[in-house]
Formats: sequence, C-alpha cells, structure tokens
Amino acid sequence: MKGFATRAIHGAQLKPEAHGSLRPPVYDNVAFEFADSNQIQLAFEGRKPAHAYSRITNPTVEELEQRVRILAGAQGVVAVSSGMAAISNIILTLAEAGTNIVTTRWIFGNTFSLFEHTLKPWGLESRYVEMTDEKALAAAIDNKTRAVFLEVITNPQMQVADIDRVVAIAHEHGVPVVLDGTVTTPYLFNSRAHGVDIEAISSTKYISGGATSMGGLILDNGLFDWRQNSKLAPYAKKFGPGALLAALRREVYRNAGACQSPHNAFLQTLGLETLSLRIDKSTANALALAQWLEAQPKIRVVNYPGLKSSPYYERSQRLFPRGVGGILTFELASRAECFAFQDALQLVRRATNINDNKTLILHPASTIFCEFDENEKAAMGVSDAMLRMSVGIEDVEDLIEDLERGLAAL
Ligand SMILES: Cc1ncc(COP(=O)(O)O)c(C=O)c1O
Repeated sequence: MKGFATRAIHGAQLKPEAHGSLRPPVYDNVAFEFADSNQIQLAFEGRKPAHAYSRITNPTVEELEQRVRILAGAQGVVAVSSGMAAISNIILTLAEAGTNIVTTRWIFGNTFSLFEHTLKPWGLESRYVEMTDEKALAAAIDNKTRAVFLEVITNPQMQVADIDRVVAIAHEHGVPVVLDGTVTTPYLFNSRAHGVDIEAISSTKYISGGATSMGGLILDNGLFDWRQNSKLAPYAKKFGPGALLAALRREVYRNAGACQSPHNAFLQTLGLETLSLRIDKSTANALALAQWLEAQPKIRVVNYPGLKSSPYYERSQRLFPRGVGGILTFELASRAECFAFQDALQLVRRATNINDNKTLILHPASTIFCEFDENEKAAMGVSDAMLRMSVGIEDVEDLIEDLERGLAAL
C-alpha cells in the first residue's frame, strides 16, 4: 500500500473527468435524472447504485468518503454535516430505548450533552466510567449495552486510555467500540489497526484544512459482526459486513438529514491533501511549546501526552508513533490569571475551535463548560485555572514571543 501522503493526493478518482480536469468538478446540485422509469426504479430499490438525490448521496461527497476510506483502510465511510452529526448518527443507529452505552465523563461537552440531555429523555441510558479503570469498564457493560464510546485523547484533560485494552474488554462482551478520533485523524492513529469498530471524526478540525467548513465522518472499520446487535441483525442478514452503513443510509442518515454539503466536501477533500504536512507541523510546534511552558516557573502544570512528564507518555509513544497532535492544556494560579494571560496575547487568537492553522487559546471553564456547575466541572476534570491551546502551523519562535507577553501580564 502506498504511503499516507500519496494516497491523500491520488486516492479515489471515481470516474474519468469529461475535460481531463485534475480536480473533479463540485456537484453542487440536488437531483439527478434517469434515462427511463426502469433505471430510476432500480436506483431506488438499491439494485443499481446511482446518485438520485443529494441528501442521500452526491458525487463530490462520495469522493471525500472514498478518499477517507482509502486513507484509513476502513471498510466504508459516510460523510455528514458535522462531528456532532457523526456521533449522533452512530449512536441512534446502534442503540434504542431501553439499551445503554458505556462511556466516560471525560468527553467533549456537547457530546456529553447529547448523551445526557438529548438522548436520555428518549430512553437511552449513558453509563459513565473511568476509561483507564478496566474493572469498572467491564462491570458497567451488560447485555443491554450497545456501544463503548471514548475519545482518542481527551480534551481538555489530555488523558489517553489504553485503547487496545478498552477494545479487548468491549469485545469480550460482544460490544462494539466507537472512538472519536477527531484530534488524531487516521494520520496519527489508525483505529482499524487497534481493533476499533467505528470511528467518528469532526472533519471541521484538522481535515477541513484550516477551519474552512463544518463536517463529520463515520468510518466502519469492518471488524464487528453486526449480527450481534439486535437492531442491526436484520441488516446483517441482507448486507453482511456492510450492515451498519446500510442501516445508516436507509434510516438515520437519510431520515434525519444531516448530510454533508458538496461544497464542504470539496473543501475537505482539498484539506485531506495537506493533512499530513499540517499535522506534522502543528504536532512539532505543540511539543516545542509544551516543553517551553513546562520550564516557566509561573506555569503550574502542563498536560500534553508527548511530554516525558505525562503519565500517558509511554502509552502515547506506542499508540501514536507520529506524535500526539496539536492540543495542550496548562494551569496558572487562578481564573483571573488565565484571563490576564489570554488578554495580553497578540498573535494567538481567543477562539473556541481546535486544529486550525492558527494557534487558538480558550479558557474551557468559562466557555464550553459554562453550562455545567462546579461539581460537574470537577467531575469532568475542568479546572478554573486551566487554559487550552490548540497549536497551529506558525513559526514557533513567534508563538513563544507571544506567550512571553502572556506571562509578563501575570
Ligand atoms: C473531540 C470532538 N468531537 C466532536 C466535536 C464536534 O465537532 P463539530 O463541531 O464538527 O460538530 C468536537 C468539536 O469541538 C470535538 O472537539
């Protein structure tokens, strides 16, 4: 198999292009016509695959899906409108009222809110365990568990669970693992090689190529026998290993309508082509900044799994041989110090996104976690004295100069 960068650039030319354009046109349209009634019937029955309506499939979106499939070595990919759409589509397809998922409180705040505020009233229970506590994880799984859900590197805590062990425990119980791989992408972490069944990615982040567009990806790695899931068993009979994606395309993805727009798919396919270059630079910058911050007396703690001082250093070296990505968190003395630090910065932007080309900083406790009370924030590992930085691809000396301004303001 060719290398990652080569596949990112040359993968998935779906059809010869009429004018020989090296970049296929963007099919920014809704409907497709058919030669006769028979052809349109065959397409609707799924007997002759063809694009009919862009909420269901679209050639530009399909190109993104196929490019990601080739890059990740997944069995199939569905592109959706956002990372949250990816997670909600997966859970709504795997689970139902009266069943449960096993997860942890150390997840993205909106994902926690999806489980706790949106899906709970529909009868889905979410069980929260410490993902690094194998006994607790095994004990939480029962015959109503439809998935174990975790993030590859938690944010802002920067915890790395032993993903191989989580997979082994879930599989001993016949339960699939759903991993949010947004902050690593298939470049830093090949989820299939570690036995993960389904990967959800917010392609809004690294893949969009610099915060150009919203998007999400659902990857089925083709490892789980869907006959073991009561909801998917009828699909497994008909579609075999393709059951999950077939169910998505015929139910939640189609009916909830969170489709990817062709224009965004075009931008994200472009983003994929430079993904490895940008991640390498952002990861190298993040490691350099983490090491620099750790040496500053005014900084109390730096959380970055690429630092030798991190409790997750050894595990990260094994799981992420190309590095641990561009996000780090650090603690000052108080919220007031965090605000003073942030407000003194002139290059680093105060904004809530991650994995942009620009370096961004955020005070999580007063922003993304502001809807949670102090006890909930403590349970989620979000300290009031913590800042999160998503490191971009600028020259690292300029970033250090800016952080020096932040420290000088304390
Ligand atoms: C880890 C993680 N997963 C999912 C999401 C949701 O992605 P989106 O904003 O594309 O819906 C985010 C957004 O910040 C995230 O950080």
